[in-house]
Amino acid sequence: MSVTIGVFDSGIGGLTVVREIKQLLPAQPLIYFGDTARTPYGTKSPETIIQYAREDTRFLLEHGAGILVIACHSAASTATSALRQEFSEPIFEVVTPSIEQALALTRRKIIGLIGTRATVTSGVYEKAIHSQVSDTKVYSQSCPLLVPLVEEGWLKARETRMIVKKYLRPLKNRQIDTLILGCTHYPLLKRIIREKMGKKVKIVDPSAEIARAVYSYLEAKDQLSEESHGREDRFLVSDLTPTTQEVVQRFLGRRVHLEKASMSSRG
Ligand code: DGL
Repeated sequence: MSVTIGVFDSGIGGLTVVREIKQLLPAQPLIYFGDTARTPYGTKSPETIIQYAREDTRFLLEHGAGILVIACHSAASTATSALRQEFSEPIFEVVTPSIEQALALTRRKIIGLIGTRATVTSGVYEKAIHSQVSDTKVYSQSCPLLVPLVEEGWLKARETRMIVKKYLRPLKNRQIDTLILGCTHYPLLKRIIREKMGKKVKIVDPSAEIARAVYSYLEAKDQLSEESHGREDRFLVSDLTPTTQEVVQRFLGRRVHLEKASMSSRG
């Protein structure tokens, strides 16, 4: 039986997760929903993020998703427990696999986290890390300027390098040995981040981690699709502008057919 993976994000950034999922599971049917009309989530209150995440989840389930992936870190940090209480379908999210990976990689038990304000203020990373290894130090830094810079395609700009350096300095001063990229957009800045942190700091990119987690789950359930049978993945967004396709290409590395979601079927 082939299960459709439903992935949602506040916008287009979650396609970094889709990219990894499709590399590991090329034939598994997938439906993506990007809430481009209401992005960003990272600046919103927990109540609003939970409400949006609930509507995104419902939307994907109504469109045939059998398992869910919360690709948005702001939504994953804020809304996962609420969604798990409300929905019975399996829900994967980007926080858990990145924590597992960070704990496996850290030698000195000093971990850094970068993310949006919503992700950092949620405190879920610290809580989960301390519940597993209580003497680990976790230092977090919100980096609100990085999302717009990535969306504008300023991936190698001098200004971006300066801002990344400024954001990372406090973490560097704390001598972290592992850094979690806690936002969909940061994998696109991995090279600069690595350069600024130095080679010794291990970088955790949750987009790859979550793909492995979904693969293991489907494999264990014997639900891996071997062939796509000509089915096309679907990519829906709540708002479509002339630049959306450009941004999609930046995150996914290819063009896809974008559909504007009908809002009446949401919420
Ligand atoms: N997708 C969001 C995240 O990973 C970044 C963009 C936003 O703030 O909505 O946190």
